[in-house]
Amino acid sequence: LKQIKIGIFGLGTVGGGVVEQLRENRELLKARTGTDLVILKAVVANPSKPRPFDLGPIEVSGDPNFILDDPEIDVVIELMGGVTLAKEILLRSFVSGKTVITANKALLAECAEEVFEAAYEHHALLGFEAAVAGAIPVIRVIKEGLAGDRITEVSGIINGTANYILTSMSKKGEDFQKALGKAQEKGYAEADPTFDVEGVDTAHKLLVLMCIAFGGIFDFKELYTEGITKIEPVDIEIAAGFGYVIKLLGKAKEVGGKVEGRVHPTLVPEDQMLASVDGAFNAVKLSGNFSGPIVSYGRGAGARPTASAVVADLVSLVRQRESETSPVPPLSLMSEKLKHRKLMPMAEVLSEYYLRFSVEDKVGVLAELTRVLGSHNISIASMIQRSRSEEGGPVFVVFFTHEALERDVVEALKTLDQLPFIAQPTRMIRVDPS
Ligand code: HSE
Repeated sequence: LKQIKIGIFGLGTVGGGVVEQLRENRELLKARTGTDLVILKAVVANPSKPRPFDLGPIEVSGDPNFILDDPEIDVVIELMGGVTLAKEILLRSFVSGKTVITANKALLAECAEEVFEAAYEHHALLGFEAAVAGAIPVIRVIKEGLAGDRITEVSGIINGTANYILTSMSKKGEDFQKALGKAQEKGYAEADPTFDVEGVDTAHKLLVLMCIAFGGIFDFKELYTEGITKIEPVDIEIAAGFGYVIKLLGKAKEVGGKVEGRVHPTLVPEDQMLASVDGAFNAVKLSGNFSGPIVSYGRGAGARPTASAVVADLVSLVRQRESETSPVPPLSLMSEKLKHRKLMPMAEVLSEYYLRFSVEDKVGVLAELTRVLGSHNISIASMIQRSRSEEGGPVFVVFFTHEALERDVVEALKTLDQLPFIAQPTRMIRVDPS
């Protein structure tokens, strides 16, 4: 049986999972690829660090050239994370004709143009299923399952850590820091967990999906990104009282040729599928113009689920490599001339809103709030006032709005937050009833 020689960058959580999966499923993978997939070399930041798994025949080095300069290596798996070195690894591997698999969503999103143009230029076999939503084969669904559809919407819960935290806060009443600590212990969080909680990791993944779904390169800096650090238990509680669950959603849709994309906490009606996605699970909703909506659900983080996506790419690309048939281009487009696509400015986005005002409880306050909202074309769908906890202290007044323009809401809140009866800055969370 022909041996496929693999060099792996990174032996952390996901790298360890890949080593184990290739070992545990070795016979199955031989049957499925007609080859023997063997990791021969690993490059890691700290080569002498003990690993919680048996390295077997893997030789370990701290020098990237140990793999990149070895003409015998057929496949490079990049699971190191970070942007600078990872980019060099990908670009050099394309040039030398190595098949490349990466889970690096930060790199693919922040350097989309450079990486994908190089991949096309060198006709690279590039797999990045593991970069988005762990075990869920969402990239494959867009590129192959929906290959005949115009994609109209991509949305979902695509960060396990943030979803784990929101679930723990709402179901167990746990505080934010404690829930984050647990997600880190379980190996879900990024090396820098601010990426998880500030929405950056969700934005990275959404941007990768957008490039495929909407055919072109988007600028990561244009993607509106807001995390979950300002969500307070009181918002979760009030939202629940109105039949909503707060989720960190990434959402992009194409409307009349314009693409809208955004990442922010969102009130999702509790009877929607996305509302019941809990813990480190992810779910992605795709809509095609013929398929209608498709929701894929599964484990979005962790060693084994993410390894599963890496090894699926490995099988698929080795099959292509060996047979040279049915290539599936990186972004599903045949053309090497990748189009730059502009995102709709956030100010032009239409949404419904949850607005929680913290105000003094006195005559005329409600009238003033509704007057300012009305003067910005913001129509109120429902409202509630939460009674005072301490005599004379501020009260919460919560409005749910009908659909309004983001620009109008931002302007209205700017005005309102300066009024003397406002006790704390207003909490605004977007509502997605669809
Ligand atoms: N930190 C990521 C998450 C890991 O929590 O979803 C998977 O990309």
